[in-house]
Amino acid sequence: MKKQTLTSLNKLVAEGGKFTCLTSYDATMASLINAAGVESILVGDSLGMVIQGHQSTLPVTVDDIIYHTQAVARANSTAFILSDLPFMSYQNTETALINSGKVMQAGAEMIKLEGGEWLTETVFRLAQNGVPTCIHMGLTPQSVNKFGGYRVQGRGEDASTRMLNDAKAIEEAGADFLLLECVPRPLAQAITAQAGIPVIGIGAGPDTDAQVLVSADMLGMNLGHKARFVKDYVALTGHFVPAIELFVKEVKEGLYPAPEHWFES
Ligand code: KIV
Ligand code: NA
Repeated sequence: MKKQTLTSLNKLVAEGGKFTCLTSYDATMASLINAAGVESILVGDSLGMVIQGHQSTLPVTVDDIIYHTQAVARANSTAFILSDLPFMSYQNTETALINSGKVMQAGAEMIKLEGGEWLTETVFRLAQNGVPTCIHMGLTPQSVNKFGGYRVQGRGEDASTRMLNDAKAIEEAGADFLLLECVPRPLAQAITAQAGIPVIGIGAGPDTDAQVLVSADMLGMNLGHKARFVKDYVALTGHFVPAIELFVKEVKEGLYPAPEHWFES
């Protein structure tokens, strides 16, 4: 596979295709993801749980993201790399610019931020400075304490109208991707239909332009709580690269996610 870029991913989606994304925090997983043809890698703050053993993403620091982005970037040859800005590292535009700069210099090609309309100025300024952004909406794990747990977001008319408006504002501000986590399928479908930019989903149904999973989850390496949208591809294939290849194939063919992986309402 050729090196994926924002342009190549936009083209793939414009032509009606779907792309895949998996988390990686290290060189080994990045090389497996490359070998299996996954178009993009997320250096997610889920590393707080997966690598560091915390109960949430809140303890993750910018330096942690820099360290893991560097490890992934050294091994990566084909995927487009997105990295998270962690909890309270983008609470205002200046802070977001400084921390995004550091993470981009570590090897990220896009910065992911959790939020909505309140991020419009930040997104606009990052775009001016050459930093592509992905805005994560719905179940945004950095807000778990405001939500009172990991729950589906955007249920009901008010909440879905708000998320549609947030998506529109963020896109108008210059965001390049949206990411929807744990929102009802009809809302994810409506946001994807409205959006002129690619929408990545996790627990958001089959209608988004791309699917992302935490690699440890889809490789059967998570013995803890298993979210509804998780599918263990190693159980189906017996080894890592074939497992990731099957995930890619199923996303492209519309076989993953299946109804048992999404929330209809
Ligand atoms: O940190 C992460 O892995 C994420 C994905 C679950 C979207 O943000
Ligand atoms: Na994250």
